[in-house]
Amino acid sequence: MKLIEQLKERFIEIHGGNPVDIAVYHAPGRVNLIGEHIDYNGGYVFPAALTIGTALLVRRRSDDKLHMASMGFSLTVQKSLFDLSYQAEDDWSNFPKGVISILHAEQALLSGFDMLFYGNIPNGAGLSSSASIEVVTAFAILDQEGREINRTNIARLAQRAENEYIGVKCGIMDQFAIAQGKKDHAVLLRCNDLHYEQVPFESGSYQLVIGNTNKRRELAHSAYNERRSQCEAAVQILRTVVPGLENLKWLADLNEAQFSEIAGELKDEVMQRRARHVVEENARVLRSVDLLRQGNLVEFGKMMVLSHESLRELYEVSCRELDVMVEAALQIPGVLGARMTGAGFGGCTVALVHEDQVDEFIHVVGDTYLRETGLTGEFYVSKIGDGVRRVE
Ligand code: GLA
Repeated sequence: MKLIEQLKERFIEIHGGNPVDIAVYHAPGRVNLIGEHIDYNGGYVFPAALTIGTALLVRRRSDDKLHMASMGFSLTVQKSLFDLSYQAEDDWSNFPKGVISILHAEQALLSGFDMLFYGNIPNGAGLSSSASIEVVTAFAILDQEGREINRTNIARLAQRAENEYIGVKCGIMDQFAIAQGKKDHAVLLRCNDLHYEQVPFESGSYQLVIGNTNKRRELAHSAYNERRSQCEAAVQILRTVVPGLENLKWLADLNEAQFSEIAGELKDEVMQRRARHVVEENARVLRSVDLLRQGNLVEFGKMMVLSHESLRELYEVSCRELDVMVEAALQIPGVLGARMTGAGFGGCTVALVHEDQVDEFIHVVGDTYLRETGLTGEFYVSKIGDGVRRVE
């Protein structure tokens, strides 16, 4: 039986009724190809939507209730639209609740909904499973309500839910890639004004292989917030001490030449390294996109490697597990580049691997990784999929 039919059957077991009035939506996860820790610094990122993601089956109710269930968690949650405050014990359902509470506060929803979520993004792996749930919820509810669908606004709304309701101070990259992704394209996004372009990802005989370190991302939230504050503090200092930069808004507004002239003004050596990563990584994104457009995958791969080194040495958000996996990947013939992807401190790597070497890659990198870390890595040969959409 097709997955959608199985999900509909389960929906009816939980919520009753019949299949005809169930709508089905899907939002992907994302992988960032290059441009890490840049979004909240106002620069360029280059993520792509995956084909794995979150399906949401939804049906309007005649009262104000939300009945939420998931295929992956036994907890089901029933709430009124008028009582959607964050509750730790509501666990996974806080993600859709956050989105719906903001929507309801802003534009009074007409009724509640029965909902069933199904996700196949590994949780906590840094492939944006939570952003995927938030974006699919926003898209589905707006569509069901007959409201205007503006994908950029959906990304903003999902980011707000994450920032204000869940309390994670993430940037806009994940939600944006999930809302605006396109099959076989990566999204070049300028984060200071959300100008974007969908760039064909023509990788010929090379495949994107995602490697999950299965390393729990301990301390990731506090370290993430610390990096953000260091960048904001660097902007503050440069505004105060460098004539002409009084109006500097974002670190990524500085180009490499400008930065090398003024870097010494950041006396705190750690802060200086953080800022250098941002300025150089931002430039690398634009270089990478040019290289991709020229079909120069070899040089594109080198940019991925430089990005990883910078995240490891300057921004210090890598970890031993990510480094071991990237190092092992780069030893395999036919690998053009590899790097950590996402926030870091665990999560996933992404590598550009010749199609003839993919099996060898998974086998050898997996073995080395297990031997050196004691952890079993998982690998996904990933296709670039579409952004959020209604499936039926
Ligand atoms: C997480 C955040 C994003 C971005 C990346 C790092 O995925 O959610 O906004 O900052 O980390 O590039």
